Amino acid sequence: MAYKIGVIGGDGIGPEVIDEALKVVRAAGVDLDTVALDLGGQRYLRTGDVLPDADLDQMRALDAMLLGAVGTPDVPPGVLERGLLLKMRFELDLYINLRPFTDASRGLDFVVVRENTEGSYAGEGGFLRKGTPHEVATQGSVNTRMGVERCVRFAFDLARSRPRKHLTLVHKTNVLTFAGDLWQRTFNEVAASYPEVTTAYNHVDAACIYFVQDPGRYDVIVTDNLFGDILTDLGAAVAGGIGLAASANLNPARTGPSMFEPVHGSAPDIAGTGQANPLAAIRSAAMMLEFLGEADAAVRITKACQEAVDVSGTTSQLGDHVAERV
Ligand code: IPM
Ligand code: MN
Repeated sequence: MAYKIGVIGGDGIGPEVIDEALKVVRAAGVDLDTVALDLGGQRYLRTGDVLPDADLDQMRALDAMLLGAVGTPDVPPGVLERGLLLKMRFELDLYINLRPFTDASRGLDFVVVRENTEGSYAGEGGFLRKGTPHEVATQGSVNTRMGVERCVRFAFDLARSRPRKHLTLVHKTNVLTFAGDLWQRTFNEVAASYPEVTTAYNHVDAACIYFVQDPGRYDVIVTDNLFGDILTDLGAAVAGGIGLAASANLNPARTGPSMFEPVHGSAPDIAGTGQANPLAAIRSAAMMLEFLGEADAAVRITKACQEAVDVSGTTSQLGDHVAERV
């Protein structure tokens, strides 16, 4: 039976790269029943809607979603980020943000497991005396035992399934002594159930140095929402580049659809020129297939993408190239 996939092409280069991802999935022999979801900057500018409840309800009936990119220069910052991307993460409980990084030429193969529904992204805080000289702005970080534990458990399960079975917690326990303590204690307690997984801890600033100087030390990393956001952009820069970086926003409990998207943005400056690299979107589609249980097609696509890293061509030529090899 065909998988029911919601497709949010979005803005800028989003629709172009998603077309290539769908082309490749179909070439790999997986049957998709796609539903176009009109969301992003264009819809917002036309109607003022960002993510109405009716669209969310439509999403809940899907098997998964593939998103290209959202954002246009004429939409104020924050509108689509909070109103669409973060709202999907919160409402659909996409509590894991999974970002794999590979660079075969340097023997790199690591994955960042980023907590995706809490921390500084939870929106706790506010203004006092806004716009006056005595203005106060607070922005809290929300860390629940349940939220931290389910994320840490996911990371241990993932580490156990990989050849190296090594998991590193990244935080800033020396300064963020409340949140860091909860993360560290939870990590240590969960570790007791995974004797086959070796563990390590790095402060996030030190992890930045290792990402640049010795990324080969990492297998699986687990970290909080904001550290994970920053660290995964660095990961993309040191391993393969942003043109390759794929991500999965997962609801591992499968109480609703998970969402898969390239890490890159909508790049309006090159939209329509055929210069966009579709590999990150194609790899995101492979992550979707893996999550849906189509491991064989996922492996074939991921491998074909790796082999296409140095191939040059337009967006659709690169899509064709990968499609012919899956
Ligand atoms: C990402 C992005 C988002 C984030 C933004 C666009 C809300 O940077 O997926 O990494 O901060 O999580
Ligand atoms: Mn980011």
